[in-house]
Amino acid sequence: MPKERIITAIDVGSSKICTIVASVTYRKVSVIGNSSVPSLGIDRGVVNDIDKAVEAISNSLEKAEKMAGHAISRAIITVNGQHIESENSTGVVAVSDPEGEISAQDVLRVNEAAQAISIPSNREIIHVLPRDYVVDSTGNIKNPEGMSGIRLEVEAHIIHGSSTVIKNLVKSVRQVGVEVSDFIYTGLASSISVLTDTEKELGTVLLDIGGRTTSCILYQNGSPLYSFVVPIGGKHLTGDIAVGLRCSLDSAELIKQRHSSGEESKKAPSSLGLEENIKPGDLYIGDIDPDLTSVPKKFLDQIIHDRLEEIYTLVLTEIKKSGFIEKLPAGAIITGGTGETRGVVEVAKKVLNMPVRVGFPKGITGLIDEIEGPAYSACVGSILYKLENSNDESDYSNVLSGVMKSEFLKKIVGALASFFKSLVP
Ligand SMILES: Nc1ncnc2c1ncn2[C@@H]1O[C@H](COP(=O)(O)OP(=O)(O)OP(=O)(O)O)[C@@H](O)[C@H]1O
Ligand SMILES: [Mg+2]
Repeated sequence: MPKERIITAIDVGSSKICTIVASVTYRKVSVIGNSSVPSLGIDRGVVNDIDKAVEAISNSLEKAEKMAGHAISRAIITVNGQHIESENSTGVVAVSDPEGEISAQDVLRVNEAAQAISIPSNREIIHVLPRDYVVDSTGNIKNPEGMSGIRLEVEAHIIHGSSTVIKNLVKSVRQVGVEVSDFIYTGLASSISVLTDTEKELGTVLLDIGGRTTSCILYQNGSPLYSFVVPIGGKHLTGDIAVGLRCSLDSAELIKQRHSSGEESKKAPSSLGLEENIKPGDLYIGDIDPDLTSVPKKFLDQIIHDRLEEIYTLVLTEIKKSGFIEKLPAGAIITGGTGETRGVVEVAKKVLNMPVRVGFPKGITGLIDEIEGPAYSACVGSILYKLENSNDESDYSNVLSGVMKSEFLKKIVGALASFFKSLVP
């Protein structure tokens, strides 16, 4: 019998906290639990109210644990926000084997050498992503292990972030009784579940447009090249609609989603005698906000257009700054919850002047009905990243979990988990 291993990912977003619990057998990933709850105490990747953040993370985790029938002890967590920065660096080592065969240890050493960059003491390296290795003078090598040579060089993409932000995330997750096994930058996570190998090879930019952030990552020759975050997202669109229509944020969110869904069939109820008042180009919203009957769709299109244009212009400025604007023939791929917004592709094509598509998360099976939308790309990608980047048994949530075969066992573990959680200050 193959051993079942459990991977858990928590995407700590500004709009929602998403938890996915996946079971891995023979490298096949099957989702056995998931949950998405409204986010609290977190804004643009930064914990701004630890008690509220703990409450929301705990709520999301408990729902996913219940569905999966596992108590989770370790998880990979997304990290996001404007504090994220990246740079590319090189590392060089001499191959240790006198016969010149490159070992896994040499690869580790050279990757470590690439980390020797000068960053302020209040920042932490989150990722060292090897782009290319050079063995003696032969470059463009993706995996040098087992090859012959005397000098090993790596070019790596390094992503770093604020130590304080990261510490507070760890603190919040620990308070729900879960150890952080790894962090993953949201943009990288989404790129793993969304981009095709061809797109990564040709050159592309991924934009995860969430609630309050747009996390970006550029790829070229199959590897990440540049990462950055723009502090605007879908909640700003909602805010603009609320201002434009003078309605509440809750109503504006529902109006935005109805407009985006193209739900043309939603009609004013004939019993109210309003039917004839709803013009062909208008959207009926009387059931969302009784003070409003309808709104011209063109008006909503304009509000959405203006804010998306601002987001894409900021993204374009950042790409131009990187110097890689000419290296993106596969265009832009948009994901994140805002990827569902009407007009999101058209405005991007106009501003970025490149091909654009909306990307949905791929690569996992099981209980995925609720996590198939673009809002779940980062959480799904985190699971896939963990699958690719750990063979270490201790990285998996086996110890506490194990499959709970009976309700009795479930209750005992549940009671113990609550007891231990209550001891955590
Ligand atoms: N059907 C829809 N149509 C339009 N917008 C939508 C739809 N569904 C979700 N959104 C928008 O997506 C945004 C949330 O996206 P997502 O869940 O990716 O954010 P998040 O990951 O919590 O936030 P962030 O990554 O910025 O911290 C919200 O602003 C919401 O209005
Ligand atoms: Mg997000």
